Amino acid sequence: MGSGIAQACAMVGFTTVVREVNQDLLDKGLKEIEKNLGRLVEKGTITEAAKGEIRGRLKGTTGIEHLKDCDLIIEAIIENLPAKHELFRVLDEICAKQTIFASNTSSLTITEIATATKRPQRFVGLHFFNPVPVMKLVEVVKTIATDPAVYEEMVAFGAKLGKTPVRASDSTGFIVNRLLVPYLLDAIRALEEGVGSIEDIDNSMKLGCGHPMGPLTLLDFVGLDTTYYIANIMFDEFRERRFAPPPLLKRMVLAGWNGRKAGRGFYDYSDPQKPKAMKF
Ligand code: CAA
Repeated sequence: MGSGIAQACAMVGFTTVVREVNQDLLDKGLKEIEKNLGRLVEKGTITEAAKGEIRGRLKGTTGIEHLKDCDLIIEAIIENLPAKHELFRVLDEICAKQTIFASNTSSLTITEIATATKRPQRFVGLHFFNPVPVMKLVEVVKTIATDPAVYEEMVAFGAKLGKTPVRASDSTGFIVNRLLVPYLLDAIRALEEGVGSIEDIDNSMKLGCGHPMGPLTLLDFVGLDTTYYIANIMFDEFRERRFAPPPLLKRMVLAGWNGRKAGRGFYDYSDPQKPKAMKF
């Protein structure tokens, strides 16, 4: 998601430093942005000159020290609390006191991530949606410690990105995943119970409810490992069955069938243009 967030920031005029852990990942992210911008030029949405300006605003680095002069840091690393704590501990040391910190976490508690810093009042959640350049929503998450002025600044920042910012409290899953995760898990339960086939479950929600993707296609798109991880955190927090990951999800993750990025999930993506439903 990092590359999508960086693209969205650079497109509206912010000088954006993109920091990755190694050169390979950095190149991959910048290539993805290059591809997206190229598509926008082809469609006539932006000019070649505008593409050059956007690219010029993006500075790639693997060195964390290059983030020290940023006004806002948006973290989008792996969903692992110790890793986020270590990152923010270092950022807290090198960045100016007024720098605002934000996490794009979809399931961890913002309040807990902020404990690695001495600036919980300048810490918010900015939760984006995949694909970031296309999806119009950002959840702006306020903890009990967030300074109201900082929060309003971040709501305004979300709007500057061309997104609709929604206000959410620091409750696990915020608004979208609170509603989306039980729905996705229920689609897997429906499949497990033989209510319908993969294609029929997906077509039902696409054509019957006007969703752009059916739930099993969306699970492959989000990543089964990611969904499994989020579901476990939500189940731990709320202890409600609707958040409990179904056995089939666990087995697919154990088998490495993590969805589109793994080439296989509920669909086989050997031919990415024509995914074929898996047979279980
Ligand atoms: N990056 C940038 N642009 C992309 C893109 C990508 N990865 N994928 C598609 N697009 C663009 C296309 O260029 C196209 O643009 P134009 O309309 O300007 O031509 C537009 O999006 C539509 O794409 P397509 O015609 O190829 O395909 P589509 O109509 O099926 O749309 C989709 C693709 C936008 C992904 C759509 O299927 C969709 O909205 N799906 C649901 C996505 C969703 O629910 N996301 C949230 C997931 S939850 C999450 O992210 C958070 C979490 O915590 C789990």
